[in-house]
Parts: sequence; structure tokens; C-alpha cells
Amino acid sequence: MIMSRLLRSHSSFPSLHLMTMSKNGRLFSTGSNMLGESLKSAEAETVTVTPPPTEKLLVLGGNGFVGSHICREAMERGLTVSSLSRSGRSSVHDSWADSVVWHQGDLLSPNSMKHAMNGVTSVISCVGGFGSNSHMHRINGTANINAIKAAAEQCVKRYVYISAADFGLINYLLKGYYEGKRATEKELLIKFPYGGVILRPGFIHGTRQVGRMKLPLSLIGAPLEMVLRYAKVLTRIPLVGPLFTSPVNVTSVAKVAVRAAMDPAFPPGILDVYGILQYVEKSG
Ligand SMILES: NC(=O)c1ccc[n+]([C@@H]2O[C@H](COP(=O)([O-])OP(=O)(O)OC[C@H]3O[C@@H](n4cnc5c(N)ncnc54)[C@H](OP(=O)(O)O)[C@@H]3O)[C@@H](O)[C@H]2O)c1
Repeated sequence: MIMSRLLRSHSSFPSLHLMTMSKNGRLFSTGSNMLGESLKSAEAETVTVTPPPTEKLLVLGGNGFVGSHICREAMERGLTVSSLSRSGRSSVHDSWADSVVWHQGDLLSPNSMKHAMNGVTSVISCVGGFGSNSHMHRINGTANINAIKAAAEQCVKRYVYISAADFGLINYLLKGYYEGKRATEKELLIKFPYGGVILRPGFIHGTRQVGRMKLPLSLIGAPLEMVLRYAKVLTRIPLVGPLFTSPVNVTSVAKVAVRAAMDPAFPPGILDVYGILQYVEKSG
């Protein structure tokens, strides 16, 4: 449109740089003197160039263990980041946390997340939890399904869900947790067939903030990861095999989640822990 309005002018700017908008919204300069030499600036129409749409990432549960690492990773990549959780702002005092927009809301009350979804292009959900079976079903299932529906209504482009690996026998003990996770996955694949990514990590290690304390989960997780990441075959042992699923560092999960949320070429579908580890190894 900008191009056609300029072409309709009868003269040209002495040294004109046309800015054209590509499909992905980026601006390219197309060179100078393209429209002749004699355009008088007085005749030129004032054209307002709409800035390219900025990518806006919303992290659901951005003040939790995995969520805060995802927010930090996204900030380091220069993205505009907001978070939504029931308690709002993270208790972390690092400088990146000051640049995140912290919303308060509850995924179980869909109306409370409408404001936070405004203008958002990608969502990563880290909302999940343990408790009674019915609570686990609500928080891992219902709450997340609400968020997926709200995101689809707002025409969000990409949606990443931090789910969990199957743990065989443990699935029966944590029935509500796994049933909730799988119900959310199903909804995501329906609502976001091209832009939905499900990460299924096992145990995630790193430094977890608990109140004022920092829990160094990597003391156990890192050595186990070193051994088990190359022993996927053990997970095929009947019944107990899934207990040998490799742990993964929280920074690896954060890296893959942010990439999956922002890169339109990232394949949709389910990525298990070995896929996450492989992706990080390849991307360096
Ligand atoms: N940590 C692991 O080893 C591990 C392994 C596999 C999978 N996962 C999955 O990864 C995800 C993140 O785990 P995490 O360890 O980071 O958990 P976390 O630290 O407990 O974080 C959960 C986040 O969800 C928010 N939240 C809970 N209920 C909410 C609601 N109704 N509405 C809005 N926000 C809500 C919490 O904030 P508020 O309390 O302020 O609302 C918090 O920010 C979970 O889905 C978990 O199942 C974790």
C-alpha cells in the first residue's frame, strides 16, 4: 500500500529509500532513486509506516522454577516477555526480572487472563502441580485447557506446553497429574496443529528457589543426566524402565521452549527428553 501510494505520486524524492514490508513484518530498504529524480518534497504525501509487529511472549507460571528460567532465557534473546500466575511478580531479585511484565491471574478463572493475552504472539505454559488427584487433574488439565482456549481465541500463533514424561508405575500413583497432562496435550494438538509444541521432560534439575533458600537439584540431577542421557535403551525395560528416564537441566528446557515458541520452523508435536537433549547438543 505504501508502495502504491508513492508510485501514484508524479515525482520522486532525490534520494529515496523505500521501505517495504515483508511477509514476516520486517522492513527492507529497496534502494535509492527508484522513482526518478524530480519529486518535490512538498508534493510528497505523509505516509505513516506501521512498525513491524513485535513478538510478544507470555509465560504462564513465569515465577515458578521452570518459568523463571524461561523468562530469563527469553529476555536474553531480546524478546518482550510477560508472565501470569496467581501470585504475580517473581520473588527473584535478578535484573532480568525487572524487565518482565508480571500479571496476576488464575488459569482456573478464564476471565482473569484475558488482559494478559492481549497482543501476545506466543505462549509457554509452565503451570502444573501436585496434590490430591482431583487438584492435579484441575491444575495440569482444566487450568491449562482454559489457557489454550483463551490463546486460540486471541489468535496466538505458537503455544508451548511443559508437560511431563511417562513414568510407568508412577503414572498410577499420580493418576490426576498424568491424566491432566495428557488431556492438555490433546487439546493443544487440536487447537494448535501447526504451532503447538509439547515438551515432555523427566526430572528437571537446576537451582530451585524455595523461599529464601536455593535448592541445588543439579547435585543429584547432573551426574544422573551424564549417565542416563546415553542409556535410552534402559527405559524399555518392562515396568521399571521409565524410572531410568534421563534428567535434564532447566536451562536446556528453557532454551528449547523459547526456541519452539518463537521459531515458526520448529516442528509441532511432542518432544521427549532425549529430543530436548539432542536439540540443545546440536544447537550448541
Ligand atoms: N520440576 C520438574 O522436575 C518437572 C518435571 C517434569 C515436568 N514438569 C512440569 O513443568 C511445569 C513447571 O514445573 P515447575 O517445577 O517450574 O513448577 P512450579 O515451580 O511449581 O511452578 C508452577 C507455576 O504455576 C503457577 N500456577 C499454579 N497454579 C496456577 C493457576 N491456577 N493459575 C496461574 N498460575 C498458576 C505457579 O505460580 P503461583 O503459585 O503464583 O500461581 C508457578 O509459577 C509443570 O507443569 C510441571 O508439571 C516439572
